[in-house]
Amino acid sequence: MTTVKSSEEETYTELNQYRDQIVGIDKKVPVLDGSLKTYINLDNAASTPCLRPVLDTVSQFLEWYSSVHRGAGFKSMLSTRVYDLAHQVVADFVGADLRSNAVIFTKNASEALNKLANRFPFKDDSVILCSVMEHHSNDLPWRRKAEVIHAQVDETSALDLNDVETKLKNSAGKIQLVTITAGSNVTGYVNPIHQIASLAHEYGAKIVVDAAQLVAHRSLKIKPDHDPEHIDFLIFSAHKMYAPFGTGVLIGPRSVFGQGEPEHVGGGTVELVSRDEILWADLPEREEVGSPNVVGAVALARAIKILKKMGMKRIAEHERKLSQYTIRKLKSIKDVIIYGSDSYDENRLGVIAFNLNGFHHALVSAILSYEAGIGVRNACFCAHPYVRHLLGLTDEQYKEVIEEIKRSYKANLPGAIRVSFGFYNNQDEIDRLIEALQRISRKEYKGRYKLNPASGEYVPEDFSFNYQDYFDF
Ligand SMILES: Cc1ncc(COP(=O)(O)O)c(C=O)c1O
Repeated sequence: MTTVKSSEEETYTELNQYRDQIVGIDKKVPVLDGSLKTYINLDNAASTPCLRPVLDTVSQFLEWYSSVHRGAGFKSMLSTRVYDLAHQVVADFVGADLRSNAVIFTKNASEALNKLANRFPFKDDSVILCSVMEHHSNDLPWRRKAEVIHAQVDETSALDLNDVETKLKNSAGKIQLVTITAGSNVTGYVNPIHQIASLAHEYGAKIVVDAAQLVAHRSLKIKPDHDPEHIDFLIFSAHKMYAPFGTGVLIGPRSVFGQGEPEHVGGGTVELVSRDEILWADLPEREEVGSPNVVGAVALARAIKILKKMGMKRIAEHERKLSQYTIRKLKSIKDVIIYGSDSYDENRLGVIAFNLNGFHHALVSAILSYEAGIGVRNACFCAHPYVRHLLGLTDEQYKEVIEEIKRSYKANLPGAIRVSFGFYNNQDEIDRLIEALQRISRKEYKGRYKLNPASGEYVPEDFSFNYQDYFDF
């Protein structure tokens, strides 16, 4: 087994050698014929597995773990230092200047976006510009706060920059925020966030970038505050960065979060409280109510250090090659429909959405799991407007689906199958996926699957997983 040195000098040559640094990489899972197969995780866009050095660091840290910020003992002081330092590691990762910006830890990217929506100083007639390709977490929180308009996508289903500019131009200065994903969790399109930042600033808006899909796969810098291409607010999540210990990140100007009351109030957010007065603490404490997730912060900081040493360029290149290979192979299967363009260049993350014509996406995903031990994701990936567009559903068709869901009938849920890569995935895994898809397309799968209309899931008859045989408390 390749070992990763814990010293700062660790150098990584081939990404391949990191494969065995993934916790659980060789885990075998049960399949329908009674055998066990080594699990293939092709659902990294949802959550990546944990890196071994992250887990090791967490274990080492837990021996020192104690309360942070107000504890007077050695362990408390050490834990406080480590927790505070983790903010700095995150800031350095994206080039944020902590003199003018705050790094605020949340539970995940969704919570970070909600917090920003709750804390941004909107005017009464504010308009927010997002896009139809957003994850719901970068759309729904804004709808509660102001009018939200959506930039459209072009004929390849990539973000239409002309529409972004037209909407900014037509808004007569009402658009206060432009909020855009750095990379789509459905098609993997990477958006030109700095170009959009320039546009937003030109029209007097601030920009929010949802980088949940991007930061474990590409380098991203927010650029200096005075740069027109500066990203004002940045959001991401550690569980998509090989550190699944419950931390999300929100970065933004101290001037915004330093104004008014924090989103949640209570312990940790104050310097002093009297009967009639509250002195709020400095940032980030004033926005991190209660006892923070110190372990999550440690895990995230360690994961960042490892990703940096592996080299974001090398990661991007590896995942691009995997995507190109997958696309080539997918196209060789009869009746595969790939969503978005099939060019997987530097403007595309390793996220591929497709369907197998004639087969329900939930059935294909179930067969991949029950017969090939492959984990993918299916349905609409928390991006319903975008998937609806990709599938070309009419208003009528969509209305029908809505009516069915209201009646708890999910047999006809629209959607697709998504595979998404991490740096550790390899060609052998893709070959196994392609082989399984070929078998499905030839109807050579073994199980007899029945649909549960209440959940929209397919399960094989006379078979179920005994989860408790694999893990229990
Ligand atoms: C683009 C994008 N934004 C936001 C989120 C929400 O992330 P989290 O699960 O960390 O809240 C996701 C999750 O899949 C995502 O893909």
